Amino acid sequence: MDFALLHLFVLVLSMLCVIICSLEFDPVDNYLINCGSFENTTIGNRIFLADNLNSSQRVFVNTSLESIPSSYSSVLYQTARVLNDTSKFTFSIKKQGRHWIRLYFYPFMYENYNLSSAKFSVSVDNFTLIKKFEPLSAGLVKEYTLNITSISLVLTFTPLASSFAFVNALEVISLPDEVIPVDVGAHSLSVKALETVVRVNMGNVSVLPQNDTSWRYWEPDGRYLTGTNLIQFLSRIQDVNYTRGGPSRNIAPPSVYGTATRLQVGDPNTLVNITWSFDVDPGFDYFIRFHFCDIVTGHNDPNKVGDDHELLFNVLINSQTASRNLDLRNRTSNVLGAPYYMDVVKRLQNIHRISIGIGPTDIGSAYPDGLLNGLEIMKISNFKGSLDASDAEIQSSVPTSKKTRTWLILGSTIGGSIICVVLVVVSILFCRSRIRTAVDESTGENHTAVGAKEASVISKLNMGYQFPLVAVQEATDNFSESMIIGFGGFGKVYKGVLKDNTKVAVKRGFRQSQQGLSEFKTEVEMLSQFRHRHLVSLIGYCNEKDEMIIIYEYMENGTLKDHLYGSDLPNLNWTQRLEICIGSAKGLHYLHTGSHKAIIHRDVKSSNILLDENLRAKVSDFGLSKIGPEIDQTHVSTAVKGSFGYLDPEYLTRQQLTEKSDVYSFGVVMFEVLCGRPVIDPSRPKESVNLVECVMKCLRTGESEAIVDPRIAREITPESFMKFVETAEKCLAEYGSDRPTMGEVLWNLEYALKLQGKDEKTTQENEISDNQLDNSVVSTEYSMGSMADLAGVSMSKVFCQMVKSENKDSCDMC
Ligand SMILES: *[C@@H]1O[C@H](CO)[C@@H](O)[C@H](O)[C@H]1NC(C)=O
Ligand SMILES: *[C@@H]1O[C@H](CO)[C@@H](O)[C@H](O)[C@H]1NC(C)=O
Ligand SMILES: *[C@@H]1O[C@H](CO)[C@@H](O)[C@H](O)[C@H]1NC(C)=O
Ligand SMILES: *[C@@H]1O[C@H](CO)[C@@H](O)[C@H](O)[C@H]1NC(C)=O
Ligand SMILES: *[C@@H]1O[C@H](CO)[C@@H](O)[C@H](O)[C@H]1NC(C)=O
Ligand SMILES: *[C@@H]1O[C@H](CO)[C@@H](O)[C@H](O)[C@H]1NC(C)=O
Ligand SMILES: *[C@@H]1O[C@H](CO)[C@@H](O)[C@H](O)[C@H]1NC(C)=O
Ligand SMILES: *[C@@H]1O[C@H](CO)[C@@H](O)[C@H](O)[C@H]1NC(C)=O
Ligand SMILES: *[C@@H]1O[C@H](CO)[C@@H](O)[C@H](O)[C@H]1NC(C)=O
Ligand SMILES: *[C@@H]1O[C@H](CO)[C@@H](O)[C@H](O)[C@H]1NC(C)=O
Ligand SMILES: *[C@@H]1O[C@H](CO)[C@@H](O)[C@H](O)[C@H]1NC(C)=O
Ligand SMILES: *[C@@H]1O[C@H](CO)[C@@H](O)[C@H](O)[C@H]1NC(C)=O
Repeated sequence: MDFALLHLFVLVLSMLCVIICSLEFDPVDNYLINCGSFENTTIGNRIFLADNLNSSQRVFVNTSLESIPSSYSSVLYQTARVLNDTSKFTFSIKKQGRHWIRLYFYPFMYENYNLSSAKFSVSVDNFTLIKKFEPLSAGLVKEYTLNITSISLVLTFTPLASSFAFVNALEVISLPDEVIPVDVGAHSLSVKALETVVRVNMGNVSVLPQNDTSWRYWEPDGRYLTGTNLIQFLSRIQDVNYTRGGPSRNIAPPSVYGTATRLQVGDPNTLVNITWSFDVDPGFDYFIRFHFCDIVTGHNDPNKVGDDHELLFNVLINSQTASRNLDLRNRTSNVLGAPYYMDVVKRLQNIHRISIGIGPTDIGSAYPDGLLNGLEIMKISNFKGSLDASDAEIQSSVPTSKKTRTWLILGSTIGGSIICVVLVVVSILFCRSRIRTAVDESTGENHTAVGAKEASVISKLNMGYQFPLVAVQEATDNFSESMIIGFGGFGKVYKGVLKDNTKVAVKRGFRQSQQGLSEFKTEVEMLSQFRHRHLVSLIGYCNEKDEMIIIYEYMENGTLKDHLYGSDLPNLNWTQRLEICIGSAKGLHYLHTGSHKAIIHRDVKSSNILLDENLRAKVSDFGLSKIGPEIDQTHVSTAVKGSFGYLDPEYLTRQQLTEKSDVYSFGVVMFEVLCGRPVIDPSRPKESVNLVECVMKCLRTGESEAIVDPRIAREITPESFMKFVETAEKCLAEYGSDRPTMGEVLWNLEYALKLQGKDEKTTQENEISDNQLDNSVVSTEYSMGSMADLAGVSMSKVFCQMVKSENKDSCDMC
C-alpha cells in the first residue's frame, strides 16, 4: 500500500519536475501555416499546417530544393501560395499584446510561373510592412512584431498591377510581454511595429529557432565583423546563470549568452574597437538591444596579464558612446555568468549603416577588454505607420542645420588666415612633389598597373567604414575652399564636422590618379586593421562617384613639421619634442611588431607625424605602407617610393625594404627635431642643403652642438643631447643590420627624456652615459649658415645631383 502511494508520489513529483524543467514559452496564439502545402509539416517541435484543403486560389507545390542557404527548415520553401488579387489572411487573437509575424519567401520556378517576377505590398492592420516587394533572393524570412490590441489581425497582400503576390509560409505567434519593452527612454514603442533587421549571436555560431523560446533565428556575427585580427570567439554555455530579476531565457537563450566575441589585445597601449557593421535604411528610428554576459572572468587566460583587470568597456553606436565604462559586474550584482541586456533607440538620418563597437575604456589603469554576446537591431515604424524604405523621412542633403551655418561663418572668418598658411604650405609642397616625382622617375616606377582591377580592389575594402558622399559633403560644407587645411601629393585635406559633432580631417584624392587609387586602398586597409594611441585613426572612407575620400580623426595641432619650422606656431620645448619622438616611435614600433607580420610605413617624415590637442604624436599617411617580409625572407623587393631626404640609402640602391628603412627615416626626423630645420633646405649654402649630410659632417668634426635648434639649445641637458644624437646617428647607419629596432630607439628616447628630467633618481643605468664624446659643454652658439642665393639654379638639377650623391658612401657636396 505504502509502496504504491510512494510510487504515485514520485510519479507526480517527477511529472511536476518535467513541467517545471521544460518551462518553455507556450504561446497562446500560435498560427503556423505552410502555404500551398497538402500536408502538415513538422519542424523541430512545431507543426506547420497544410492550407490548401479548400482553396480556390492557385497553389504551387514541390519545387526542387537546390541551394537554399537558410537555417530555417527549407521544407517550408517547397510550396507557395500565389495570390493574384488583394488577399487577406485573418487570424483571431486571444491574447492581446506583442506578436511575432514571420513571412517566408522563396521564389522558385513552377511550370510557367516565375515567382521572382512577383511584385507586391504587405500590410498588417494599419501598418505597411513592405511596398513594391520583389523577393529576388533565395530563402528570405521577414520578421515583424506588432502590439495587437484588437481581437483579430488582418494580413493583407496586395499585388502590384499586372503582377501577383506569393508566400511560402506564415507564422503569427504571441510573445512574452517582457521581450519588447513598452518604452525605451523617451521613445514609446507600444503602438509601433518593429521589423527585425538583424539578430546576431556573437562567437560566430548560429542559434536555430528550435533553440529559442520564441523561435527566433540568431545568425553568426562573422560576416558583420570589420577587421578580425584582434578578436576571440568564446563559447562557455554552461557558465550562463540566469538569476531572479535578471533577463530570462525569453530574452535570449543560453546559447546566445554563452557565446561571445571578445577583444583580444596583448598590449595595454593598443587601442582597438571591435566593430560590427550592418546595412540599414536611413530615415528611421532603430531599436538596438545589446546582450552581455560575463563568461570571461574566473577563467585563466594566458593571453591576459594582470589579475586585477576588470571587465570594463565602452559601447559605441556609429562612433558615438552608447555606454561609457560599462561595468558588467556592477550591472549583474557580481554574479558571474548572469545575463544583462541594454536597449537603445537610435535615429539614423542619412547614414546607411549601423556600426556597433566595443572598445576599451578610457579609465587609465584598466586593461583593454570587452565583449558582446548578442545583438538585435529592429527598425521602428514611422509616423506613417510604415516600415518600408520608400517611406523614410530623410532630410534633404542640402545642409540647413544651425550647426552647419555656424560653420559657414566660422569658416569664412578663419578662411583668410588659412589661405595665407595654405599658400605657404602649397609652395613647400609644390617643391616636395617635384622631388617625389624626380625620385619616382629615376627609379622607373610603373604607374599604369591598376586599370581593370580597380573595381574589385574597391569592393574588397572594409565596407564597415563606408560613408555616403552626402554625409562627407555636409561635413565639409560641400568641400568648401574655406575648410581646406592642407594639400598633399594625394589631394586636398579639409576640416569637417560630422553630424554628431565629431571633428574630422577629410582627405579628398585627385580623381583618375592610378597611384592615388592603390595608395587609397592601402591606407583604408591599414587603418581599418591597426589601431593604436599613436596611429591616426580612420573614421571612414567614401568611394562613391569616383571619389577617393578618407576621413580621419581631426588632429588639432597639425603636423610636427609645422611646429619645427616654416610657420609661426609657438616653439616646442625639448621635453615636448622628446615626448613627440617617443609617441611616434611607439606608433612605429607597434606597426613593426603589433601583428604577426610587420608593417613598413615607408614614408616616415615630420609632415606625417600629427599632433592632437595635447601635443600627443600620431603617425599618419599609410598610403605607401607595405606588409613586411615573410619570416624566411629578410626583405621585400619593391620599387622605390617615399620622400626624398628621408630615404634609406640601402633601400634606394638595392630596393630592399625592411623595417630598418623606417628606422632610417625616423633618424632623419630626430635630427629635424633637434635642428629645427628642413631636411632639404635649398636656401642654404650648397654644403648644408641636406640636413643629414650636414649633421654627419658636424658630428665627424666634433661640432655637434652647432646644429642644435637655437630655440632649445639652452634648455637641453648635455646627457640628454648625447643620448639623443647617439641614437639618431645609429638610426642612420648605412646598413640596416647596424641600425637599432624601433623598440630600441624607443627605449633610448625614453632614457633621453629621463636624462633631461630634473627628477633624475635612477642611477643604476649610469653605464649608458659612458660615451667617448665630450658631453660636458653644449654650446649655445649656432650658425644659421649664410643664405646663399640659389634662385638661378634649377631645382630639379640640384636634386638630381643629390640623388646621385645619396648612392655614394662619401658626400662630395659637404
Ligand atoms: C494537420 O493537423 C491538423 C491539426 O493537428 C489536423 O486537424 C489536420 O487534419 C492535419 N492535416 C493533415 C493533412 O494532416
Ligand atoms: C470550402 O470553403 C467554402 C467557402 O469558402 C465552404 O463553403 C466549404 O464548406 C469549405 N469546404 C471545406 C471542406 O472546408
Ligand atoms: C510532392 O512531393 C510529395 C512528397 O515529397 C509527393 O508525394 C508528391 O507526389 C509530389 N507532388 C508533385 C506534384 O510533384
Ligand atoms: C486570379 O485567379 C483566379 C483563380 O485562378 C481567377 O479566377 C481570376 O480571374 C484571377 N484574377 C486575375 C486578376 O488574374
Ligand atoms: C524570373 O524572374 C526574374 C526577375 O524578373 C528574372 O531575373 C529571372 O531571369 C527569371 N527566371 C527565369 C527562369 O525566367
Ligand atoms: C486603424 O486606424 C483606424 C483609424 O485610422 C483606427 O480606428 C483603427 O483602430 C486602427 N486599427 C488598428 C488595428 O490599429
Ligand atoms: C500594447 O498597447 C497597449 C495599448 O496601447 C498598451 O497598454 C500596452 O502596454 C502595449 N503593450 C506592449 C507590450 O507594448
Ligand atoms: C565565422 O564562421 C564561418 C563559418 O564557420 C567562417 O567561414 C568564418 O570565417 C568565420 N568568421 C570569422 C571571422 O572567423
Ligand atoms: C548562480 O548564481 C547564484 C547567485 O545568484 C548562485 O547562488 C548560484 O550558485 C549560481 N549557480 C551556478 C550554477 O553558478
Ligand atoms: C540546441 O538545443 C539542443 C537541445 O534542445 C541542444 O542539445 C543543443 O546543444 C542546442 N544547440 C545549441 C547551439 O545550443
Ligand atoms: C573607438 O571608437 C571611438 C568612437 O569612434 C573612438 O573615439 C575611439 O578613438 C576608438 N578607439 C580606437 C582605439 O579606435
Ligand atoms: C554599482 O555602482 C553604483 C554606483 O557606482 C553603486 O551605487 C552600486 O552599489 C553598484 N552595485 C553593485 C552591485 O556593485
